[in-house]
Amino acid sequence: MKEIIGLKQIIDKEIQNIDFPPLPNNLYDPIKYILSLEAKRIRSIALLIAHQLYNKDYKNALDAALAIEMFHNFTLIHDDIMDNALLRRGSPTVHKKWNENIAILSGDTLLVKSYMMLLNLDAKIQTEVLKKFSETAAIVCEGQQMDMDFEKQDHLNIKDYIKMIEKKTSVLFASSFEIGALIGGANKSDQNLIYQFGLNLGIAFQLQDDLLDLYADQSKFGKRVGGDIIANKKTFLYLKSLSLAHPKQKEDLQNLYSSIDFNESNKIKKVKSIFDSLNIYESTLEAIKTYHNHALDSLKKIAVKNKASLNYFVDLLVKREV
Ligand code: IPE
Ligand code: IPE
Ligand code: MG
Ligand code: MG
Ligand code: MG
Repeated sequence: MKEIIGLKQIIDKEIQNIDFPPLPNNLYDPIKYILSLEAKRIRSIALLIAHQLYNKDYKNALDAALAIEMFHNFTLIHDDIMDNALLRRGSPTVHKKWNENIAILSGDTLLVKSYMMLLNLDAKIQTEVLKKFSETAAIVCEGQQMDMDFEKQDHLNIKDYIKMIEKKTSVLFASSFEIGALIGGANKSDQNLIYQFGLNLGIAFQLQDDLLDLYADQSKFGKRVGGDIIANKKTFLYLKSLSLAHPKQKEDLQNLYSSIDFNESNKIKKVKSIFDSLNIYESTLEAIKTYHNHALDSLKKIAVKNKASLNYFVDLLVKREV
């Protein structure tokens, strides 16, 4: 069995070897750029790990893993435009380094190229994988639209938030595991269980992403700490705070989130001090734990015997700082 670090090295190398045309520069350079920046490769690793539970030859799943990773990178290029983010993986975002039109078109092209990777799949499973991949892609867009709509909506609750992150983030996690298992030859029951495992793990992952967005170490994080507050994102941290705050604090928080040209670092500081006074860091950790436990419940039911790699993967995700 290839260890997780080995799998990451394989994916990194394969990504660097993808042959994109040289011209036009302004279309392909941004794609090469985003793919060359150091990244965790979580979704493609997830696909390969799931595959390995049923089939020892990782090569059979490599094209699908690359397709998932390319799709993910496409979503990041467009997400950074939508979130007005300046920094990604410690470097300028594509739309800042080039411009928004270039970021839109190179993102689109990366999406198309991810589908082209799936042309290499075995005909026996190709249609099923394409179906899952496409359904997932549409759901991610639904989630991303909800995320943006939420910026301007009041009266949202944690249930709305979980539905939104399930769509924008978890479904891609879940499908990565499921597609890996499918290509490896898992039965339907295991495919469903590993999907559920991925779905819960993905929710925990996005909760942690929201937590890191404010509490990470800026020198390691690679994105702007406090970016979600600047963008008025209705994250778990914000919605949980509203549910715990007394009326005055609630009003303050809502006012901070409706201000437009507030001094940015001041706004982050003020919001953070409300979050801290309500112990939001701890409540978010608790919520992360709950979804990890849901994931582990599904994991226990998977029929395949040696699930050590999945457990190890969960541990790695819990400990991440970026
Ligand atoms: C970022 O994904 C987008 C989210 C869904 C939070 P990752 O944190 O996996 O980003 P990279 O690919 O490792 O940079
Ligand atoms: C992004 O969520 C989800 C997708 C890219 C589909 P975020 O907006 O929280 O991701 P980051 O924090 O920019 O990586
Ligand atoms: Mg973002
Ligand atoms: Mg976003
Ligand atoms: Mg985020």
